[in-house]
Amino acid sequence: MPGKADSRREQVNTQLQTMIHNFSSLRLLVVGDIMLDRYVWGDVERISPEAPVPVLQVKREDQRLGGAANVARNLCDLGVNVIIAGVVGKDSAGESVRQMLMAHGMHAELAIDEERPTTVKTRVIAQGQQVVRVDRECKNSLGRAMTSALQSALDSIDDPIDGIVVSDYAKGVVNREIVALLSDMASSRHIELTIDPKPCNAPNYKGATTITPNEQEALAMTGSAVSLEPEVVAKKLHEQLKVPKVLITRGPRGMFAWNVDEGSKEICSKAREVYDVTGAGDTVAAVLSASLASGATLFDAAELANIAAGLVVAKVGTASVSSKELLEALRGRGG
Ligand SMILES: Nc1ncnc2c1ncn2[C@@H]1O[C@H](COP(=O)(O)OP(=O)(O)OP(=O)(O)O)[C@@H](O)[C@H]1O
Ligand SMILES: [Mg+2]
Repeated sequence: MPGKADSRREQVNTQLQTMIHNFSSLRLLVVGDIMLDRYVWGDVERISPEAPVPVLQVKREDQRLGGAANVARNLCDLGVNVIIAGVVGKDSAGESVRQMLMAHGMHAELAIDEERPTTVKTRVIAQGQQVVRVDRECKNSLGRAMTSALQSALDSIDDPIDGIVVSDYAKGVVNREIVALLSDMASSRHIELTIDPKPCNAPNYKGATTITPNEQEALAMTGSAVSLEPEVVAKKLHEQLKVPKVLITRGPRGMFAWNVDEGSKEICSKAREVYDVTGAGDTVAAVLSASLASGATLFDAAELANIAAGLVVAKVGTASVSSKELLEALRGRGG
């Protein structure tokens, strides 16, 4: 005879499965710091005669969508229809981003800032080990002209939208004016505004309905001591930002979810083996926002996001999870 907990899990599993099947009927708007992740792989066989540095013989190069564009890509892989809005520079990296977004079937509203480069993070990897990362970026907040260009792009969206997700990497796009517009959009359309935050921009987040900081970000935003219980930190965030739902991600320790309706819940991490934790936060933002847009409670949405993050950290090289993989993972835990 299945116990009470088993039948509750079975019921949640069935609900989550139905929800994943319906992801393809959702349209989400992603706004934030769009980046390009570049990888240069090769071998080092000698030291340079010019300086005491290794010489990399390049074998392969690759580029992927990063930052807000990786959140968008995660949503696409779940089957969600995506509109992405952000800023790129007038350069070849910006053009690559545009083409990659289009290749994924996204609708992109990209404002072009002639005064900043497209954010590019280049990882140089020798014999499988990262040797150096080269960042090209400008972290200044968007100027007045670019803010209004992005606002016009956002205002021009008249498609129905089921949710908004903001991916803030503190590169200047997520300023007070942009969040204010998104907050108005979310409240007039009665949809969720989920923000993956950076502490320095905390004062900008008024109007968010859900926030997904990692533990360090949550502590920094609230000025809390490391020893403070996650529940106390979550409540402080709620009071400070007037945000009804808080999800604190805790790396290998999983997550802590708190909200006005359900109270608090600790969710243990799922990965059996961990290969690459980069991008796990983007997967969490994507799965959580899609689930909330489908009407899931914070606890159920967080549980699914935690399963997805567990799958993504166990992968080498890819930073997203498909709806098929999520469905298989749910079947694997019974129900
Ligand atoms: N080492 C790990 N083992 C198992 N699960 C992990 C591990 N690291 C991350 N996760 C999963 O990924 C989720 C998000 O990770 P984390 O809290 O590190 O977010 P983050 O710091 O925002 O990540 P990012 O660097 O992508 O921004 C966790 O809540 C957990 O579910
Ligand atoms: Mg993060």
